[in-house]
Amino acid sequence: MIIFEKVGKKFQSKDREIQAVEDVSFAVEEGEIFGIIGFSGAGKSTLLRLVNLLERPTTGTVYVDNLAIDKLSQKELRKLRQNIGMIFQNFNLFNSRTVFGNVAYPLRIAKLPKDEISRRVTELLRFVGLEDKANSYPDQLSGGQKQRVGIARALATSPKILICDEATSALDPETTNEILHLLKKVNEELNITILLITHEMNVIRKICDRVAVMENGRIIEEGTVLDIFSNPKTKTTRNFISSILNDSLSDTLRKNLHSEGTKVLYRLTFKGEVTKRPILSEIAKNFNVDVNIINGTIDEIQGGLFGNLMVELRGKNSEVAKVIAQLSKVVQVKEVYLHES
Ligand SMILES: Nc1ncnc2c1ncn2[C@@H]1O[C@H](COP(=O)(O)OP(=O)(O)OP(=O)(O)O)[C@@H](O)[C@H]1O
Ligand SMILES: [Mg+2]
Repeated sequence: MIIFEKVGKKFQSKDREIQAVEDVSFAVEEGEIFGIIGFSGAGKSTLLRLVNLLERPTTGTVYVDNLAIDKLSQKELRKLRQNIGMIFQNFNLFNSRTVFGNVAYPLRIAKLPKDEISRRVTELLRFVGLEDKANSYPDQLSGGQKQRVGIARALATSPKILICDEATSALDPETTNEILHLLKKVNEELNITILLITHEMNVIRKICDRVAVMENGRIIEEGTVLDIFSNPKTKTTRNFISSILNDSLSDTLRKNLHSEGTKVLYRLTFKGEVTKRPILSEIAKNFNVDVNIINGTIDEIQGGLFGNLMVELRGKNSEVAKVIAQLSKVVQVKEVYLHES
């Protein structure tokens, strides 16, 4: 539905060039929620703006519905933009217009008759749960409510694609979850494809089907969310993931482990069938090693199970090494040194 083919974007300012996006190729399938995660300055917003030609690529091609969008006529481009809704971190609402006026705006531009606009806006406000706020002004709304208005406005022209630039970054965790829930509903009930960018792994975990990790303008890793979580290939991805895994140890626990001479723990991550296997008791039975579970969770990600365990292995070094070799056949094993975690 959206295809990036070797896309690059270079900005030219007076004294220097900035390669904001470089050699990016990936495809977003119809009906999915695709997330792009990266640190500040990675090039995410630039990448998103290439989808509706708010920016033109300097190299490569972006296709939407099999059309190379840089070749479109003005008329076709207007049509494309009606087909792509967009929401923003700072909502970008008109403060001088009511909620009704904000949502009606794209419909007025599209020159719909008044009664049809009214019907459509009412329907949209009901969909986002704001039917009682039609006459309020943005200043009278909470952040979460403002983003609901932003979503209603983005949906006004019945787009097939919704692109979201850090749509929840200005919101507290609970409100973030509500908005993510609404985006999921947009995807499932209205069958709208969503491309979102974020710097929060939590957003990816909650609603995305697939994810790409972006760094210095490039995509460094891409896959289903479950695959990326259970087997991240790059350090950057591992950092994003560990930011939401509950594996920070309390000071007391750390001290206790230290005083017992423990220097290293092991983080085991795994998915699918393995989550049902008693791998640790298999280990304890077959090797002369004691397994001490420090913490652990099994989460559901996009309908699949994802396990994350932190364990201590007590025994002779040679025996521990055998256990690691055995475990590595079925799960991802990462050493966590106590002084650094
Ligand atoms: N119009 C512009 N002119 C010049 N440089 C730009 C322009 N837009 C973006 N850049 C540069 O391109 C790089 C990528 O910026 P971009 O806004 O895409 O990053 P981002 O990943 O969205 O970051 P953030 O998470 O902070 O929003 C940055 O170095 C930025 O300064
Ligand atoms: Mg940005």
